[in-house]
Amino acid sequence: MGKVTVGAAVIGGAAVCAAAAYIVRFRMRNSDPYVKCGDIVKELEEKCRTPVSKLRHIADAMTVEMHAGLASEGGSKLKMLITYVDNLPTRDEQGVYYALDLGGTNFRVLRVQLAGKSGIEYKEFAEVSIPPELMVGAPEALFDYIAAELAKFIASENEKFRLLPGRQRELGFTFSFPVLQLSIDSGTLIRWTKGFSIGEMVGKDVVAELRKAMDRQGVDMRVSALVNDTVGTLAGGRYDNKDVAVAVILGTGSNAAYVERAQAIPKWHGPHPKSGEMVINMEWGNFKSSHLPLTEYDNTMDAESLNPGEQIYEKLISGMYLGELLRRVLYRMANEAALFGDMVPPKLKTQFILRTPEMCAMHHDTSPDLKVVGEKLKDILEIPNTPLSTRKIVVEVCNIIATRGARLAAAGILGILKKIGRDGFRDGAIPEIVIAMDGGLYEHYTKYRNCLEKTLEELVGDKVANHVKLILSNDGSGIGAALLAACHSQYI
Ligand SMILES: *[C@@H]1O[C@H](CO)[C@@H](O)[C@H](O)[C@H]1NC(C)=O
Repeated sequence: MGKVTVGAAVIGGAAVCAAAAYIVRFRMRNSDPYVKCGDIVKELEEKCRTPVSKLRHIADAMTVEMHAGLASEGGSKLKMLITYVDNLPTRDEQGVYYALDLGGTNFRVLRVQLAGKSGIEYKEFAEVSIPPELMVGAPEALFDYIAAELAKFIASENEKFRLLPGRQRELGFTFSFPVLQLSIDSGTLIRWTKGFSIGEMVGKDVVAELRKAMDRQGVDMRVSALVNDTVGTLAGGRYDNKDVAVAVILGTGSNAAYVERAQAIPKWHGPHPKSGEMVINMEWGNFKSSHLPLTEYDNTMDAESLNPGEQIYEKLISGMYLGELLRRVLYRMANEAALFGDMVPPKLKTQFILRTPEMCAMHHDTSPDLKVVGEKLKDILEIPNTPLSTRKIVVEVCNIIATRGARLAAAGILGILKKIGRDGFRDGAIPEIVIAMDGGLYEHYTKYRNCLEKTLEELVGDKVANHVKLILSNDGSGIGAALLAACHSQYI
């Protein structure tokens, strides 16, 4: 087919992405064949396919990597970190406990009044934003600021919060930066992320820094547990439901933690805990397998990212990246198939301009003319008046990317269930297993959540599916940390 014919065919046909002038120009500059939007969608769909057979391979690879990571330090892309959490809440906990949640430009302090079987009697929290200069200043300045807020928080305590007589206040500390945990209540900072940069802190025990500041500020409180937010989610989930043994975070990033038998951790050389169990922080975002359906969009996004080659699984399934993948596909369609007419919308070149909440809103648009899609394209990408056919394509791409992510997350969960022998019969019965879920992606992206749940059912089969539950376990980094302070109390 000659150039002119192609142009003519586009003008004549009711092509969804028609822009004859541009295509002809494109073809003259470029020897690539003209690719219609439909072809790009088809190709994407094909490359993103996740048939059950593939998901099973991925689940098996996850199980294998879990074994390898538990066997030796650095034995796998999965770090399988020992958290020193060998006790999870039982609902016998009593009294008031505190949490400090530091993981971004805000931090939170909270307290909970625990009343045994009747659960959380009261809770209260305060949120404080961190002045930017403290994020890059001296460690003392940052931690003094936090300790001073803790002092205020204690001073403002309502009498309904009752410390058990003769007891010191106890705190769970969620510190959402990479930490090398040394014990339940100590760990050294590996590196700062999220805009923090306090050089002197790297390699230091973050709990020791906090303690020193509490001393300086006259805060009489013991730090009983240093925890990762995923571990907090597991604790919070277990408190709500005794069958919780796995926690998965699907938010901006993604991670998972679960309860492992101490005997199944060859690299653990410490004394076996009384419970015989240990919570493992998988750091599963770094999982990688040749079975993962990676496309050119994933590969270039990864190559241009701040951590190329790392967090490959996270880049497929988590909220930070789904919107960006959508942008990359739309950009290619705009370029090669004139999805938005004869100009490539300049905004579409900006990385991360399409955020996952926006993608979610477009994906869930049920209006007959896809009004929300039209609005988002106009507001974010400054593309006015998109025809319905274009909007439909955008929704289709959202669906392909979100479906792949959700199905891969389900495969990862199956991998964990297999590792702990909860993917089927055990001693002649199917035990109940509950997975505590947290994160904005899981909570708000309904189609993603539904697809994940449906896929997990499909993977474990009807019989087992009745015994596998997912519960939304909000606020692990807060309440979960306070609960961990309670079950790692100095008074036990
Ligand atoms: C703990 O959580 C944060 C944020 O959720 C993450 O970035 C960090 O790498 C995690 N792991 C460790 C071992 O600190």
